Amino acid sequence: MSNPSILILPGDGIGPEVMSEVKKIITWFGDKRDLTFDVSEDLVGGAAHDAHGVPLHDDTMAKAQEVDAVLLGAVGGPAYDDLDFSVKPERGLLRLRKEMDLFSNLRPAQCFDALADFSSLKKDIVAGLDIMIVRELTSGVYFGEPRGISEQNGERVGINTQRYTESEIRRVAISAFELAKRRNNRVCSMEKANVMESGILWRDVVTEVHKDYPEVELSHMYADNGAMQLVRAPKQFDVILTDNLFGDILSDCAAMLTGSLGMLPSASLGAPMENGRPKAMYEPVHGSAPDITGQGKANPIACILSFAMALRYSFDQGVEADRLEAAVEKVLADGVRTGDLLAGEGVTPVSTTEMGAAIIAALDASV
Ligand code: IPM
Ligand code: MG
Repeated sequence: MSNPSILILPGDGIGPEVMSEVKKIITWFGDKRDLTFDVSEDLVGGAAHDAHGVPLHDDTMAKAQEVDAVLLGAVGGPAYDDLDFSVKPERGLLRLRKEMDLFSNLRPAQCFDALADFSSLKKDIVAGLDIMIVRELTSGVYFGEPRGISEQNGERVGINTQRYTESEIRRVAISAFELAKRRNNRVCSMEKANVMESGILWRDVVTEVHKDYPEVELSHMYADNGAMQLVRAPKQFDVILTDNLFGDILSDCAAMLTGSLGMLPSASLGAPMENGRPKAMYEPVHGSAPDITGQGKANPIACILSFAMALRYSFDQGVEADRLEAAVEKVLADGVRTGDLLAGEGVTPVSTTEMGAAIIAALDASV
């Protein structure tokens, strides 16, 4: 049997820096755990625009469709701010999500014990936090038609459309309930059914799907209240199910509960392929961080934990995913900190590569 395949798309800004630590970890699993991947690499975002004039080349799109998993770093940066909307770096990322049909975006927000002091919230509110946001990723206002800026009655009008079909809501709801079964059996669905018809349909369909999951407790919340509850008492949640735009906002909010955006991974999953693995892309929640690019300061943990999610969700290697997550936890418990994780004085931050090396040392110690 051939090795499982991974396409690496480091992208822009700190993307290549954090991804280079992930590559070392992939190599480690080949050397030490007999888990060898066929790794290829290509361009996305501004990097692809520099080379090809588009944020994602058709050949790269085709490769992404063929591999078992895509690992993406980050896209965007000030150099690309003035590009036409249609070729902005973000369009490359959105094309991958849409054409691979990665409808279920898993964004865990977990507070590591060693970092509980670092959250902007009080320690007892976030200590032990472990929630999962399931964000619909291929529809809603991000992709709905009509859209655009046009001229009407002598002034410009900007239009985007929030649109969801029943089947789009159903499939992402199923993925949230399935996930809840493997966690704490609770789903809170968030929309704005008080002002949006798409929210009414969302609530209806989620309630229908729930009939197949009697063991899971379902609640509904308006998304604005959800945002408030996330900062008031985040531990009330287990799985949060929500649409594309609310999920974008709520997941940034949940991410910050844990102390740093530099810690959070994500998985974007689609339908199963012929080999049974889901179509999948893994990426850190953080962006390209132009302010620290090229300085060796970036925290590679979110990207490394994204690879752990790949081990778990694409490659059925839960034990090895646990091993990698435990290595990260160990390094944090030992006080190793990149600059974004510095709460107090007297701690010298380590560089991106030093953090990567510390995690590999912890992996070495685990076998
Ligand atoms: C995210 C990002 C993207 C989004 C951007 C970069 C297009 O904010 O993944 O959360 O809005 O989905
Ligand atoms: Mg976002």
